[in-house]
Amino acid sequence: MRLLVYRPDGNIAPWADDFARCLPQAQCVAWSEGARLPPCDYAVVWAPPEAMLRELAEVKAIFLMGAGADAIMKHAGTLPAHVPIVRLGDAGMGVQMGEYVAHAVLRYFRRFDHYVDQAAAGEWKPLATHERESFSVGVMGAGALGRRVLDCLRPFGFPLQAWSRSAKEIDGVRSFAGDDGLDAFLRGTRVVVCMLPLTDATANILNRTNLAKLPRGAYVINVARGAHVAEPDLLAAIQSGHIAGATLDVFRNEPLPRQHPFWDEPRITITPHIAALTLRDESVRQIAGKIGQLERGEPVADVINRELGY
Ligand code: OXD
Repeated sequence: MRLLVYRPDGNIAPWADDFARCLPQAQCVAWSEGARLPPCDYAVVWAPPEAMLRELAEVKAIFLMGAGADAIMKHAGTLPAHVPIVRLGDAGMGVQMGEYVAHAVLRYFRRFDHYVDQAAAGEWKPLATHERESFSVGVMGAGALGRRVLDCLRPFGFPLQAWSRSAKEIDGVRSFAGDDGLDAFLRGTRVVVCMLPLTDATANILNRTNLAKLPRGAYVINVARGAHVAEPDLLAAIQSGHIAGATLDVFRNEPLPRQHPFWDEPRITITPHIAALTLRDESVRQIAGKIGQLERGEPVADVINRELGY
């Protein structure tokens, strides 16, 4: 069995080593533009170039080394229609997302940023706390990772809500769905957590109009994709005082360019796309398991719905 393994950073050797342990019958091969690719059974890729996808018409499935499908779906027209595209299902990302979001929510709720500033100034001043009952946390995107984040937030007793394409039943969570539910969701959300897949329908969803619907003093956390946020609109909403601040892990251009105004806004916390890192050993084990299922003719989970784009 031959596996094409591709990452834009070219660092495929550790993946090949892990596959050699989990799938000893598999031989890993690399792709390079212009060189002839030997026939492959499967491809395991991240952010593949369009030219590579043209050569994958014969593979039995394309596996993604991440949860988001946007980097491959932007080449939807080139993707062989009959080849299933399979993203990672959690593979250790859920717990990391939970940690990241809970940390950002609690940091804002307990005013830790203020205490850091006070400590730097040698100031000892207990501050009034936010009121838990009205500190609603709204997660946009109620897929497996979104649910995991809601599970992590549940013990703190904040009112929880979720917004998704179709209504969901999640224990202790108020569900809002579709375009009709978006206004009410935003108006009642104090901390909005973006965990949506990036599609034409969700790009720029956190724009001036929608940010204005959040209550004054709302907080924004984005762990999905930079293109969900209209960056100048968010900056303006923070500078006007309508939005209290933001914790952003993802940006339209990554690495975030040094001259980007977000760096100079102290109410924006920036992290370098680390909210949920791909854990190679768990990912390889999961992909190897799914290859086994496909080889036995069994269905696999986490296949991208081409119509929805995720
Ligand atoms: C992912 C990511 O989609 O790392 O997995 O952003």
